Amino acid sequence: MLYDNNPTIVNVNHTDEILKLKSHSSQLLSEVEQGAPYLPGSDNTVYTKSFYVESYGCQMNFSDTEIVASILKQSGFGPTRNIEIADLILINTCSIREKAEDTVRKRLKFFGKVKRPAALVGVLGCMAERLKAKFLEEEKLVDIVVGPDAYRDLPRLIEGAEDGEKGVNVFLSREETYADISPVRLDTNGVAAFISIMRGCDNMCSFCVVPFTRGRERSRDAFSIIAEASDLFDRGYREVTLLGQNVDSYKFSYEQLAVSHEPLTDGSSKLINFAQLLEMVAQIHSDLRVRFSTSHPKDITDEVLHTMARYENICKYIHLPVQSGNSDILKKMNRTYDREWYINRVKSIYEIMPDCAISSDIITGFCTETEEQHQDTLSMIAYADYTMSYMFMYSERPNTPAAKKYLDDVPIEVKNMRLNEIVTLQRTGSHKHNLRDIGKTFKVLIEGTAKKSANEFKGRNSQNKVIVFKKQDDLKLGDYCYVKVLDATSATLLGEVVSC
Ligand code: 5AD
Ligand code: SF4
Repeated sequence: MLYDNNPTIVNVNHTDEILKLKSHSSQLLSEVEQGAPYLPGSDNTVYTKSFYVESYGCQMNFSDTEIVASILKQSGFGPTRNIEIADLILINTCSIREKAEDTVRKRLKFFGKVKRPAALVGVLGCMAERLKAKFLEEEKLVDIVVGPDAYRDLPRLIEGAEDGEKGVNVFLSREETYADISPVRLDTNGVAAFISIMRGCDNMCSFCVVPFTRGRERSRDAFSIIAEASDLFDRGYREVTLLGQNVDSYKFSYEQLAVSHEPLTDGSSKLINFAQLLEMVAQIHSDLRVRFSTSHPKDITDEVLHTMARYENICKYIHLPVQSGNSDILKKMNRTYDREWYINRVKSIYEIMPDCAISSDIITGFCTETEEQHQDTLSMIAYADYTMSYMFMYSERPNTPAAKKYLDDVPIEVKNMRLNEIVTLQRTGSHKHNLRDIGKTFKVLIEGTAKKSANEFKGRNSQNKVIVFKKQDDLKLGDYCYVKVLDATSATLLGEVVSC
């Protein structure tokens, strides 16, 4: 699961939850922001009501929020940034750690204080799925509870709630991929977008709540993915990130199609796997960068690595969560690979693509983890030479296999100490990695103005590292340029444009 685009070290011990975003479309916003009645949208949509939405957790949630915005658009709802005027307030929730759920509860309290009395409140996503109707009992403010596979039902649920009838739909589907829904891009920079290519997860890592909240794994129609990516490119976007809980197990068969298509790859295969999908997206245009997340170490194939190596526009960056560097802990986590397997995957990546960057997710203090086993995780960070990692303390989630089978027996102070150790090691590793880039020149896609200075652009290189450099009149968002690295912190490269 991808949590942030920014290659900074995230210590959830210190930050509250990793990502918090108030999602709103700046484009559409201008159409609906202040006061009713709403103006027609750019495509002549007439908005009669407004919604305000916040998304938490993984990128999949952010991507889902854009699908929700599209469904709401059909019912006349336009996005607003102003919670106080909204007719509908939505929160797309995350259940992955307890802290994420605490944040949602706090936000609901805040909504209660600022919302219009008539405004409806809806809870979407993983927490909705986990708590179901219990949510309505526990949080009186909430009018509707909708799980990740039931967003098409939102208009009906909203209508019911407008008539005073609270509603819940947490049906998990084996087919729903929202393939036909064209997402309304919220909070977009117009350069990079996420495309959901599959939903759910069949992996059953013992610590993880996702298989229970997002249901069974299913892959989206490959041709709808290509159509969405092509459309984005035509609209000026220059980067797409293909999203799934485990992208390497993507598979789409021609038999699943309602309408027949000519095979786009070698013409012989009836099944499109992830490597082939990646190639199809890369072939849309050499100026369209392709990224993906998340890869599972047990599933990532050499075919994927060779496909990445063949296309300059497939970014040389793999998010390959290790979770732990110790084989016994990995077994208890049900990750289905061991330390040696992971090391071999890392070796293959660097052999096939010496310039590839790898990042990771790491959990400290999983059930029964000893000091020695923790040391294995530290040595893995050093071995894999990660450019960054998302690091978490183990948080027991109700009804997961780990909660049923093992005791959450590592004391919180020990979890915290181990987390601090891995954060420190990763920060040093990231800094060293970045220092090695000094003097190198990278092709950079310009994504926006730097946070700290209006005179500087920020962009990313193929390895997903953020580079900050002085603005030039002949450069704008969405342009590629070549930037020479002059200096580096643990989170950012600093450079100067050498050519466009
Ligand atoms: N406790 C802590 N971290 C977790 N993750 C998933 N479940 C838990 C949990 N119960 C982390 C994993 C996963 C990332 C998205 O969140 O590292 O890869
Ligand atoms: Fe959770 Fe494992 Fe699936 Fe990732 S692969 S969503 S950690 S069960």
